[in-house]
Amino acid sequence: MTEIQLEDRTFQLYIPHDRIVRQIEIIASQLNLSFAGQQIEILALLDGAKAFADELIPRLKFKYNAHYQQVKSYRGLESSGQIHFDNRQLKNFHDKKVLILEDIVDSGNTLFQLISALKIQNPRQLTIASLLCKPTQIAYPVPLDFVGFEIGPEFVVGFGMDYNELGRELKDIYQLKTQ
Ligand code: IMP
Ligand code: MG
Repeated sequence: MTEIQLEDRTFQLYIPHDRIVRQIEIIASQLNLSFAGQQIEILALLDGAKAFADELIPRLKFKYNAHYQQVKSYRGLESSGQIHFDNRQLKNFHDKKVLILEDIVDSGNTLFQLISALKIQNPRQLTIASLLCKPTQIAYPVPLDFVGFEIGPEFVVGFGMDYNELGRELKDIYQLKTQ
């Protein structure tokens, strides 16, 4: 199936599942090199990064605790500009080495705000791994340490990413068809 319909929009196959997994394997080996022998607090941002985290975490060979934080910013195809996460739910990472897992970085607003909240806790180190990034869209300074795929500005769904809560469960990544 190379095209799918979600509500009023058509999406076409963009990154097949096996390529996603291969890229995650590469990120896992890079992280295993960087964090060998260390204790890391993993913070996966939900709901989008769940599929990325589920595929990545079993491949990690260093010691870690996995944490999950609900974050929301998108409405339809556009970033709402407002990030919704409950500061009170944020774990305390004082003096910890934290690895943030994100599905996709667009403007960078989500990560910028989350990082600002985390920095108040004085973590020992903050590292960011994002499965996808849209370099042309970045408007906030976020230091991305590990990126799986750099893509254009087009909206994508699948492998955890949604369009109005639809399409998250797709194994492949699909791109919005503009014509
Ligand atoms: P940012 O805050 O503009 O960087 O947007 C990042 C967040 O918006 C990510 O955590 C995603 O959940 C969502 N997002 C950004 N681009 C897309 C996309 O193309 N498809 C689905 N979700 C996206
Ligand atoms: Mg997200």
